Amino acid sequence: MLSVVVLISGTGSNLLALLKAIDSPLVPVRVVAVGSDGPAPGLAHADLYGVPTFVVERSMFPDRESWAKRLQETIEGYSPDLVALAGFMKILPPAFIKRFSPNLINIHASLLPLFPGAHAVRDTLDAGVTETGATIHVVDEGIDTGPVIFQRTVQVMPGDDVATLHERIKVHERELLIETIIGVAENRIDLASI
Ligand code: GRF
Repeated sequence: MLSVVVLISGTGSNLLALLKAIDSPLVPVRVVAVGSDGPAPGLAHADLYGVPTFVVERSMFPDRESWAKRLQETIEGYSPDLVALAGFMKILPPAFIKRFSPNLINIHASLLPLFPGAHAVRDTLDAGVTETGATIHVVDEGIDTGPVIFQRTVQVMPGDDVATLHERIKVHERELLIETIIGVAENRIDLASI
């Protein structure tokens, strides 16, 4: 049984898709806790599935390092095999990355290395490209730069705005997240060799 801590910052639709997908004794994955860096609406999905939640509020700490240390210690309390960032919008310092990677993955709404960072969908539209996508990768010490596990391409449609394009990308993000986590749980994906 692969135990997973999921970190979110927002609506948590990726989290919800994962919780639904593993809600079967046949799937060897358990989300042992969901954490956020602030009051995230997506925490309600964890409550619905009876999964413990925690909030390590960034504003309660004098600096990123002390905040990340508390986040690390909170996560360690659940002894996860894997930490999944699913819409977690804070940059994590090197000490945190070193502690969990390669068992630390992130989902991103572009075809990395194109359009890294917090505004990938807007940047994609501003660039006027006709193709983008979803990426799931192992987190390293860069910003959305770690080894790519899976990618899916998504067409930019005429008239797309950030909301419509992002939702079309999220359909694939959710599938990649589920495919990756179950793949790790079933020993078909070895994150250390990506
Ligand atoms: C995802 O598109 C992810 O790529 C980005 O934040 C979004 C989270 O969406 N970092 P949700 O909260 O899972 O709906």
